[in-house]
Amino acid sequence: MNYNTILTDFSNGITTITINRPTKLNALNTATILELHTAFKAAEADFETQVIVLTGSGEKAFVAGADISEFAHFEEHEGRALSKEGQDLLFDVVENLSTPVIAAINGFALGGGLELAMSAHFRLASTNARMGLPEVSLGLIPGYGGTQRLAQLIGKGRAMELIMTASMIDAEKALDYGLVNHVVSLEELLPRCYALAEQIKSNSSSAIRAAIKAINANYTDGINGYAVEISEFGKCFETEDFEEGTTAFLEKRKSKFTGK
Ligand code: COA
Repeated sequence: MNYNTILTDFSNGITTITINRPTKLNALNTATILELHTAFKAAEADFETQVIVLTGSGEKAFVAGADISEFAHFEEHEGRALSKEGQDLLFDVVENLSTPVIAAINGFALGGGLELAMSAHFRLASTNARMGLPEVSLGLIPGYGGTQRLAQLIGKGRAMELIMTASMIDAEKALDYGLVNHVVSLEELLPRCYALAEQIKSNSSSAIRAAIKAINANYTDGINGYAVEISEFGKCFETEDFEEGTTAFLEKRKSKFTGK
């Protein structure tokens, strides 16, 4: 598939999606959101892809936000639609993707950029990364799930402060807050993501799909996460991977999972 604003690369069971508008610090415009939607759905449907790594091109930005030039003259109904369509098409899709998504934050992750990284299943950052939700400095609030996911990830008080002050935090502070799991040099960022992806790949992808569903259930209104866990746990017993994993353990050999 040919894209204009993103790049995709498949290698060794891992699809890397790179947002590629470096002259605009990879800001998310409508075309980018649509292309990301297509690329994530395609990677999820591709049985060969076991892990997705999401990053930004260049050495300066992951994504510096939603493209301000696209919505500067919007009215209320257009603002609502922008937020809803973005959440439906991309941010909720990424969070609920059945294939693991790792965000490699290689520079500025601001506004929609941090919101996109927060939709990923977990995040790594390079030492030069800067993160924040500066929307109130534009007379806005985060509209791609940021008010919800930031509070979930770092706690309500810290989210309130970060959003109200519109300030940026560096990678070390993000690590301290639990917003990112690891901080490494820019050169090490993708290799470290790929090393984690290799570890994930060695496990049962059908069980990982179930784990993503059960973990996310805790953050979905009206859904009882414990009930989802019971149901998903039960379903695992019908999978080939369960049979293979337990048999391999008892036979003292390495499992050969099929993801089924
Ligand atoms: N939307 C649209 N364009 C953006 C953008 C965004 N969110 N962020 C950066 N750009 C563009 C700039 O307009 C500039 O384009 P130009 O060269 O055609 O003028 C280009 O990217 C480079 O950005 P610039 O501001 O010159 O880089 P900088 O190093 O001086 O500053 C930032 C970097 C990230 C601090 C600054 O770009 C910024 O504050 N961006 C907006 C962040 C934001 O508010 N995001 C939330 C949006 S809801």
